[in-house]
Amino acid sequence: MKLLLLLLLSLSLVAEDDTNQTTQEDDSFLSTVEYGRMLYRQPRGISCSQCHGKEGKGGQIIAKYYDKKKNPKLLRGVDITSYSLEELKASLRNEYIENNHKKHHKIMPIYYLTDEEAEAIYAYLQYSLEHQ
Ligand code: HEC
Repeated sequence: MKLLLLLLLSLSLVAEDDTNQTTQEDDSFLSTVEYGRMLYRQPRGISCSQCHGKEGKGGQIIAKYYDKKKNPKLLRGVDITSYSLEELKASLRNEYIENNHKKHHKIMPIYYLTDEEAEAIYAYLQYSLEHQ
C-alpha cells in the first residue's frame, strides 16, 4: 500500500513537472522574442529598425539622392520579414546568396552577431508578423 501511494505521488509529481515545463518553454520563447526585439533595435552597430522599420517591414527612408537625370529619389529599406533564419544569418555576415552568388551589400553594414543573437532577431520578426 505504501509503495502504491509513493508511486502515485511520484506520478503526480511527474505530471506537475510536465505542466511546469510547458509554461517555462512559453516564458523562454517570449524572452527570446524580447531579447530579439532589443537586438533588432540596438544591435552592436546601427539599428536594423533605422532601415527596415520597427518590425522589419521596410519602407524606412535610408537616403535621398538624385539620379543621373537629376531627378530626386528616395532609397527605402527592404521588407525583411519573409527571409528564412539561414538567409538572415547569411545576410548579417554579408554573405546572402542570390541567384547562386554572394550578393555583397551596397548599403547594409556587416554585423558581428552570434547565431543565438541572429535567432533571437528572427524570432522577434516572426512573432511581430504573427501578432500584427
Ligand atoms: C543602413 C541601413 C541598414 C541597416 C542598419 C540594416 N540593413 Fe538590412 N538591408 C539594407 C539594405 C539597403 C538591404 C538590401 C541590400 C543592400 O543593398 O545592402 C538590406 C537587406 C537585408 C536583408 C535581405 C537579405 C540581403 O542581405 O539582401 C536582411 C535579412 C536584412 N537586411 C536584415 C537586417 C538586420 C537583421 C539588420 C540589423 C541587425 C539590418 N538588416 C540592418 C539596409 C540596412
